[in-house]
Amino acid sequence: MDILASSKHSLGRSWTEFEAFFHRTLQSDIELLNTINQHLLQHAGKQLRPLLTLMAAGVCGEITGNTHVAATAVEMVHTASLLHDDVVDNADRRRGAPSVKALWKSHAAVLTGDYWLSRAFRLVVEHREHRLLPWFTGCLVHLSEGELLQLSKALKLDTGEEDYYTIIGKKTASLMATGMAAGAITAGADEDSVQKMYDAGYQSGLAFQIRDDIFDYQKTNLTGKPAGNDVREQKITLPLLCALKKTDNAGQARVLGWVKKAAKRHRYAVKVIRFVRDNGGLDDAQRLLQEHTQQALTLINGFPHSNLQQQLAQLVQQLTERKK
Ligand code: IPE
Ligand code: IPE
Ligand code: MG
Ligand code: MG
Repeated sequence: MDILASSKHSLGRSWTEFEAFFHRTLQSDIELLNTINQHLLQHAGKQLRPLLTLMAAGVCGEITGNTHVAATAVEMVHTASLLHDDVVDNADRRRGAPSVKALWKSHAAVLTGDYWLSRAFRLVVEHREHRLLPWFTGCLVHLSEGELLQLSKALKLDTGEEDYYTIIGKKTASLMATGMAAGAITAGADEDSVQKMYDAGYQSGLAFQIRDDIFDYQKTNLTGKPAGNDVREQKITLPLLCALKKTDNAGQARVLGWVKKAAKRHRYAVKVIRFVRDNGGLDDAQRLLQEHTQQALTLINGFPHSNLQQQLAQLVQQLTERKK
């Protein structure tokens, strides 16, 4: 996605400094850990969250050494959450390559995730950036709550629209929000600006996860992740919720029956996916995600005009059309 490259470019040396800092922080004496870290660094992902952290800082004032600490911690927490998520979701591919869970099994994936989480907090404490701790610890509670709520809803197969928003708010939006707030804090922003960046990150995060949930219904998506995993894992996401609204009670019960069977039999997953597509679930979800992007843009446009502020607005806007 070009907008990611141009946004990184707009940060100049701040971005390359972040990358170097990130790599340096992950050196360890444990051989297995270094091997797994090497795999993770080779398949680095989009690095959207540290990008948002640095840009939020730049929009609020000066990018400082502690902005790099915040950006690194955010990407570490994100990576840890993916390591754990692929165990929970039983996913064998990530970023176009076999997942850590597939290559080294669940034990190593869970423990490496724990390491990345701990390393993130150690980093913040080492740099005495205590102002970030309430935000990061709150976020961590949300991440776990989101995943657990999702799991319990999947077991009962009764996710409603409100549950869905609670889940994605906690598991995804809260980290993007924390990253942007952290950027603002390290640039010395006032409380009001920090909160506004948090809210902008939150709305962008909701939009981001809805787009991800749409990808899961597209067999030919470019994410490097398996499609159809959500239905197999009994996750009822926004595209399905939108499509279910178009049918009566009997139709809904029939489709939920297919979802249940999709856990074991692929042909039922195919039926659910076709139902969602035929009933406009993907288009409706896309429309809803754009509303969240709009809210994020209103907040970002409220900051003083600058090149970086315009770039941030463009980045958030273009995430709605992202292909991976
Ligand atoms: C994946 O996030 C997890 C979600 C919140 C949907 P990204 O799509 O940002 O993952 P990477 O880091 O670029 O692989
Ligand atoms: C987001 O949910 C995962 C986290 C926030 C950890 P998903 O389960 O949809 O993410 P992907 O699709 O596996 O990246
Ligand atoms: Mg997953
Ligand atoms: Mg997904």
